[in-house]
Amino acid sequence: MSNTRIIAISGGSGSGKSLFTKTLIAEILDEGMDIRVLCEDHYYRDQTHLSMEERLQTNYDHPQAFEHELLEKHLAQLKAGETIEYPEYCFKTHTRLSQSQPITPASVIIVEGIMLLASPELLPYFDLKVFIDTPLDICLLRRINRDVQERGRSLQCISEQYENTVKPMYHKFVAPSRFTADVIVTQGGKNRIALDVLKSHIQQVLK
Ligand code: CTP
Repeated sequence: MSNTRIIAISGGSGSGKSLFTKTLIAEILDEGMDIRVLCEDHYYRDQTHLSMEERLQTNYDHPQAFEHELLEKHLAQLKAGETIEYPEYCFKTHTRLSQSQPITPASVIIVEGIMLLASPELLPYFDLKVFIDTPLDICLLRRINRDVQERGRSLQCISEQYENTVKPMYHKFVAPSRFTADVIVTQGGKNRIALDVLKSHIQQVLK
């Protein structure tokens, strides 16, 4: 399957990458197209050998927090028409789960995550690079709601993590990575025109 096209969707934490990707995929799948999605989050490093205390010290907003070697290998395998074992990750225990899920190759693969465009080793795999550009105050508000509701975090822990790592790493790695993007999307998952542009690009590829 050498014609496989890989699309990267990146942007800061809480920028709306997931909603944008979910909306796009739902509309494309409705039309019966052959497409898969991978989340960079699933490639956070396995930390089962570390204590909870040590896991809390990890900087999850640094490119090194991800096992990009494995993601790279999986992208190459999918391009070669091979099935991959997609890892599972738990945000409550900060580590990888023991089970994985087989993902079969497809004509279009979408990868979504914060450090995709900040990682030079991954860039050659992407046929199209999209950056979701959302003001930081909106990202933070979404992140607070999401972390309390879905990731079992306290407000104190969210604000400490934001000051210590999320914000500085955003400025160091994520924001500059927008310059590698082919398309910059404002207003996240609600940007109807950007969704239509991406959809028609994917339809062209799948023709
Ligand atoms: N993270 C964390 N604890 C972990 C692993 C990751 O708090 N054990 C946080 C990191 O701080 C990082 C964020 O998870 O900033 C990455 O996920 P994010 O991009 O926020 O998730 P999405 O739902 O993909 O984002 P979006 O709101 O853009 O859809």
